[in-house]
Amino acid sequence: MPKGWIKRRRRDYYYRKAKEEKYRSRASYKLKEAAERYNFIKPGDVVVDLGAAPGGWLQVSREIVGKEGFVLGIDLNEIKPLNYPNVHTITQDIRDPKAVRRILMLLPRLADVVLSDASPNISGIWEYDHSRQMELAQTTLKIAASTLREGGNLFVKVFQGDMLNDFINEVKRLFSEVRLVKPKASRPESAEIYVLALGYKGRKHK
Ligand SMILES: C[S@@+](CC[C@H](N)C(=O)[O-])C[C@H]1O[C@@H](n2cnc3c(N)ncnc32)[C@H](O)[C@@H]1O
Repeated sequence: MPKGWIKRRRRDYYYRKAKEEKYRSRASYKLKEAAERYNFIKPGDVVVDLGAAPGGWLQVSREIVGKEGFVLGIDLNEIKPLNYPNVHTITQDIRDPKAVRRILMLLPRLADVVLSDASPNISGIWEYDHSRQMELAQTTLKIAASTLREGGNLFVKVFQGDMLNDFINEVKRLFSEVRLVKPKASRPESAEIYVLALGYKGRKHK
């Protein structure tokens, strides 16, 4: 069987599954798989989702946190409302220095979990894409350090490449446990991978 065909079928599997199960994105399964395996989002949690459009991760987060939790989604693009009173969305560039203040104003308390699937438009030029992705990951880390409670968790998209090691070392300074996660729904040929960081050490380590 040609390799390209197998890859396409795999891609279609998650695409079709998302359509059938009414998730807004095939990316939903990346978070679903990781959250089921590592249990880093819990019922009642406050979750911040950076780069959240069209809203697949918001749906998965809401399923886990339930009625008692709270989910805030942020994206450059407007996110179609999810029709749950405890899921809020804002249109905001996460690189804007005002983003942290805006997020903190909207949260009922400090966050238990910060998620980020934020990603630039891919140019196809490897080094350029890697460095832009890592800038967004750095921005996410800064936001997490200002919005997470002590003991909180972070799950953030990165691209493999030169800048990844330094980023991981910085995450290790701020969190007790750090691992790399490549969910099945993430295309094997893609440089995309996720950093899962558990147990934020608190603002004194910022
Ligand atoms: C792969 S999509 C996220 C998919 C989402 N996790 C889901 O399941 O529906 C990446 C998102 O990152 C957003 N993004 C990229 N740069 C951003 C920035 N600087 N600020 C906010 N959002 C950004 C894009 O607009 C895009 O919607």
